[in-house]
Amino acid sequence: MKIFLDTANAAEIQAALELGLCDGVTTNPSLLAKEKGTPEAILKNLLKIVPGPVNCECVSLDAAGIVAEGKNFATWGKNVVVKVAMNHEGIKAVHALHKLGIPTNVTLIFSASQAYLAAKAGASYVSPFIGRLDDISQDGMQLIRDLAAIFRNYPALKTEILTASVRNPNHMVQAMLAGSHIATAPAKVLLDMEKHPLTDIGIAKFLEDHKKSQSATK
Ligand code: G3P
Repeated sequence: MKIFLDTANAAEIQAALELGLCDGVTTNPSLLAKEKGTPEAILKNLLKIVPGPVNCECVSLDAAGIVAEGKNFATWGKNVVVKVAMNHEGIKAVHALHKLGIPTNVTLIFSASQAYLAAKAGASYVSPFIGRLDDISQDGMQLIRDLAAIFRNYPALKTEILTASVRNPNHMVQAMLAGSHIATAPAKVLLDMEKHPLTDIGIAKFLEDHKKSQSATK
């Protein structure tokens, strides 16, 4: 499974790139609002430092506006993916961008029917928000399992499942087990994936025993 970083923070992205743990980046207006600078300046910088896809989200509500934004984003770099919110106008825009050869990611997906339509219209990626489904007491991961099964049934669909709204390491593991192509996660989730209390206890014990054997008289 590819890992995307769900952040607009260049330092977090750089740190993950140095570990070989960043295959791409997803941003949205909320993430961009947390950083200093205009969305355009932030995104142009990310497009330079990330070799993989960088998702730039449209804010227009009508298809013509979304397409215009998408075409403009596409001039910023070869690795631009135009992120489009799921709704009727969004689907219209995705199909138009697909015909222009511009890759898209349909975001705010909460059902298999939405994902299937987005894929049919030509989306390169669909982003089901599993954490937000969990928040309303639905099983977010079941949507990933359903989509993986549906997309397996129709191999002609080239759309990749990009599991989003990931909140913890277990979401990442479950996404892998379900067969998600990609998961996008905040940097903190990647750091949490490294950790296990038994690893820390094991390291402490090894060091303690090493010290003992160093001081022992042979
Ligand atoms: O990739 C989507 C993500 O940014 C939304 O995450 O945690 O706000 O539901 P969250």
